[in-house]
Amino acid sequence: MSRPENATALVTGASRGIGAAIAKALAADGWAVAVNYRADEEGARRTVDEIEQAGGRAVAIQGDVANGSCEDLFERAEAELGPVFALVNNAGVTADGLAIQLDDDAWSKVIDTNLTAAFRLTRRGAKSMIRARYGRIINIASVVGPRANAGQANYAAAKAGLIGMTKTVATEVARRGVTVNAVAPGFIETDMTVDHAERAVEHIPARRAGQPEDVAAAVRFLASDDAGYVTGTTLYVDGGMSA
Ligand code: NAI
Repeated sequence: MSRPENATALVTGASRGIGAAIAKALAADGWAVAVNYRADEEGARRTVDEIEQAGGRAVAIQGDVANGSCEDLFERAEAELGPVFALVNNAGVTADGLAIQLDDDAWSKVIDTNLTAAFRLTRRGAKSMIRARYGRIINIASVVGPRANAGQANYAAAKAGLIGMTKTVATEVARRGVTVNAVAPGFIETDMTVDHAERAVEHIPARRAGQPEDVAAAVRFLASDDAGYVTGTTLYVDGGMSA
């Protein structure tokens, strides 16, 4: 089945970085895009403006995905743009520290934002996508999780959990025309990684950091009709780091 008319993509944490690049790439592919942001209204507005200037449709939708009522993002996106047939769980945070020093707040914040929110939104999104017999759910994971990274036990647990959830939900909804995949970026130049840039590049076979657009291109593919038979997989976008 091909993408229904006026299909909307909801991208969480899309005011900057990888999320903003994903929102723009999906809009360029004809999706109307709900640009979710938590606090950075100006950044979200910038993403929306760029999409509109390129001839696309988008709205900014405020909402903290770590809040228990994050499912209402769907109602708000659908009221403004149309039915949500693609969900990109991109919002993420880090709160680093060696495991013996990580307090409960640092643990919960990272699990709530990077994993629990993705579960809640997947549960909500999958219901309507199953009814429509069409949908794309894409979870932004990380190379961290499948592999170790000292100082990120919380983040690794969340991202490994996201990959596990992706595989299982994919098998639950595959018969209904809904695909569920993960994208695992390596080291991408964004505000999240600005403090680590120097150290990282020597461990990347490509000898360069990735750009948000490198990740967005993978998401754009997984959201496309061309990827209709791709489900339950994790696409690494890491310059060879995981090879
Ligand atoms: P970023 O810090 O620039 O962007 C993260 C976005 O998520 C921000 O817009 C932030 O406001 C939003 N966000 C955080 N908590 C939120 C909440 N509770 N509700 C709504 N929005 C929230 O970071 P970046 O690099 O663009 O990260 C995007 C995703 O890619 C994250 O899931 C991150 O874990 C993942 N990733 C990034 C890598 C990198 O090298 N930059 C590598 C691997 C994964």
